This record gives sequence, C-alpha cells and structure tokens, in this order.
Amino acid sequence: MAISRRLILAVLAAFVIYTALRGISESWNNDGFPESLAVKLELMPFLFPIHMISGGLALLLVPLTISLRFKRWHKLAGRIAAADILIAGITAIPVALQAPVTKISAAGFTAQAITWLVLLALGVWNIRQGRAMAHRACMLMLAAVTSGAMFFRVYLALSKLVIPPNHFYDFYAADAWIAWGLPLVAVAVWLELEKRAKNRPLIKHNNRVEQMRPN
Ligand code: HEM
Repeated sequence: MAISRRLILAVLAAFVIYTALRGISESWNNDGFPESLAVKLELMPFLFPIHMISGGLALLLVPLTISLRFKRWHKLAGRIAAADILIAGITAIPVALQAPVTKISAAGFTAQAITWLVLLALGVWNIRQGRAMAHRACMLMLAAVTSGAMFFRVYLALSKLVIPPNHFYDFYAADAWIAWGLPLVAVAVWLELEKRAKNRPLIKHNNRVEQMRPN
C-alpha cells in the first residue's frame, strides 16, 4: 500500500517537473508552437515568455513550499512562490485576452488567473492574521488551480486520441475551464469533509452525544 502510494507520488512529481521544465524551455524553444500561440508570441514577445518562465517556476515552487510546511524554509519558499505567482497570474490575463484562441478559452484562463491571485491574496492575508487553518485551505486550493496547467496539457494530449480534429477548438475551450475547475472543486469538497469530520461528535452513549474535541 505504502509502495503504491509512493509510486503514484513519484509519477506525479516526475510529471509536474517535466511540465514545468518544458514550459520554461518553451519560452525560447518555441518554433513548434501552433499558429494560434505563435501569433500571441509575436504580439507579446516579452510578456508571453515571462508568463511561461514564471508559470513553469510556479509548478515547482508551489509543491516545494507545501512540502516545506512546519520547516523553517517554508516562509522563504512561500515568499518566493507568492512573488512568482503574482507575475505568472498577472501576465496570464493579457496572454489569454490578446488574440484569443477561442473566446470561451480566454474567459476560462482569465477566470483561472483571477481565482489564482485571489486565493494567493486570501492565503497571505489569513496567515498575517494568524489563521493557520484558513491559510492552509487557501493554499491547497491554490495548488489545485496551479495543477490545472498540467491537467490542461494532459487532457489536450489525450483528446487528440479520441476527439475528431474538427472539434479541437471546442475541446480546447472546455479544457480551459475543467483543467483547473475540477481539481479546485475536488479540493474544496475534501476540505469541507475534513472540517465536518473534525467537528463530528465522536461518541454516542445512551442517546447522549459527547463532544470529544473542542470546537
Ligand atoms: C494557473 C494559472 C495560469 C493561467 C491562467 C495561464 C494562462 C495561459 C494562457 C492564456 C496561455 C495562452 C494559451 C491560450 O491563450 O490559449 C498560456 C500559455 C502557456 N502557459 Fe500558462 N497559465 C497559467 C499557469 C501556467 C503554468 C503553471 C505554467 C507552467 C508550465 C504555464 C506555462 C505556459 C506555457 C509554456 C504556455 C505556452 C503554450 C503551451 O505550452 O501550452 N502556465 N497560459
């Protein structure tokens, strides 16, 4: 059981690192870009590469910061990750809206960027107020939104196996929403269930419910 969990984590980590490094390298090695992305690069020769580099770094920095929780490096890693997400999130908005691949995908990416930045702001605000659990919840949801960059590419690659080419743009538009929307909903539901489990009375005794944990 422990071995299969480790194997899944190792495969996931390898995939995250691959997507991140590929994203960073595409900032200069982008001759193979499809026409729709090459146009964006021509319109935003600095902004788009900055997005690719900061986006790739975010994919590495977010899991690194989470893995360093309770350690003294967490604070420093968190500050670097927050600055990087700020750059990647802000640059994502013009990259989405200029020469949009489809209007629906542009809206999906813009919503993703805004959600990312709002969760970052809430996470920072909560920890500054000393609310560690709310900070944790915001950052786990932020990680879910970040993972959307990886799932987007996974789903797009898989879609080429099953979706006819004339529906490519329809799938692209849907992917721009579901790639980050599904992980975000999954993490939000998990956090809610975790909260309810913590607040649940633990012992039922002669119809009397004893609350074992403090609220
Ligand atoms: C999480 C918030 C993010 C948003 C909202 C976002 C948004 C976008 C948008 C709008 C595009 C242009 C594609 C289009 O308009 O159809 C794009 C391209 C790109 N982004 Fe991001 N991005 C995010 C995170 C990331 C991350 C974490 C990476 C790391 C790999 C990344 C790397 C790239 C790369 C390499 C491209 C170039 C095209 C490609 O390889 O698909 N982005 N992004």
